[in-house]
Amino acid sequence: MNYLSALNYANKLLKSKNILSHKLDSELLLAKALNKSREEILINLNSNLEERDFYIFEKLLIRRKKKEPIAYIFRQKDFWKYKFFVNKDVLIPRPETEIIVEEVLKLTSYNSSKFFLDVGTGSGCLILSIIKERPKSHGTAIDISKKAINTAINNAKMHHLENKIKFININIDKFRNNKYDFIVSNPPYINDINFKRLEANVKQFEPGVALKAGVDGLKIIKNLIIKSKKLLKKNGKLVFEFGENQEDKIKKILMKNKFYINKVCKDIRSYPRVIVSTKLF
Ligand SMILES: C[S@@+](CC[C@H](N)C(=O)[O-])C[C@H]1O[C@@H](n2cnc3c(N)ncnc32)[C@H](O)[C@@H]1O
Repeated sequence: MNYLSALNYANKLLKSKNILSHKLDSELLLAKALNKSREEILINLNSNLEERDFYIFEKLLIRRKKKEPIAYIFRQKDFWKYKFFVNKDVLIPRPETEIIVEEVLKLTSYNSSKFFLDVGTGSGCLILSIIKERPKSHGTAIDISKKAINTAINNAKMHHLENKIKFININIDKFRNNKYDFIVSNPPYINDINFKRLEANVKQFEPGVALKAGVDGLKIIKNLIIKSKKLLKKNGKLVFEFGENQEDKIKKILMKNKFYINKVCKDIRSYPRVIVSTKLF
């Protein structure tokens, strides 16, 4: 069997399972099985595929056929300019969360020394990307999941930032330490009804604790805002992500808690996705 026949076989298999990215996934998985780049595969379609390599490829295909996300199969995901180790204990970093990094960078200079808190750090992608770009800053990252914290620590070590960020396994409700210049967060914000409607690859494989946030999806966001009032310095910034149809309710909660709303940023599909706010008093 050559690479082309293997790809055709995989393509058909994944398509039959309604996996929209069947073509790209087949190529990526074959590249992974052969420990080559996707480009190397595509320019050598007539090369012979050894039986042993086909066996490795097939094992990867079976995982993808069951809808396991590519990032978990590869144990890696790109976020911002960096690579992060991911596993089933953490949410796979999403491109829209990069808006938070962009906004923080606009509000700070390269040499600024700020103190950041990341609430619900997961893989640590958010705070690690920020501290990479603002090397004189430091921070704290918290998560209710002990396993997520362990994964974030591994990523901090991979990026040589373990001495700049303190990782704590704690619920935001119980966290009281310090005063921060910035609080950043991509909290869980999916309501119960929308959770049921999520795609199988998300619902079955990504941790529920990273996604679910009660009947209105605002359970954690409300706590985040109330806590941020105490944890931010005066004029400190709270920058966080939220979900569909939550903008107006979130603005109200922020204003009630004496936050000034600086801006709401839209994602690539033009949905309001990230809010930048300032603690006034
Ligand atoms: C949507 S994920 C975000 C992960 C990561 N920041 C990212 O953007 O990829 C939310 C994270 O919040 C954590 N979490 C959920 N409830 C929490 C709580 N009450 N206190 C602290 N962390 C919480 C989850 O364990 C999960 O890792």
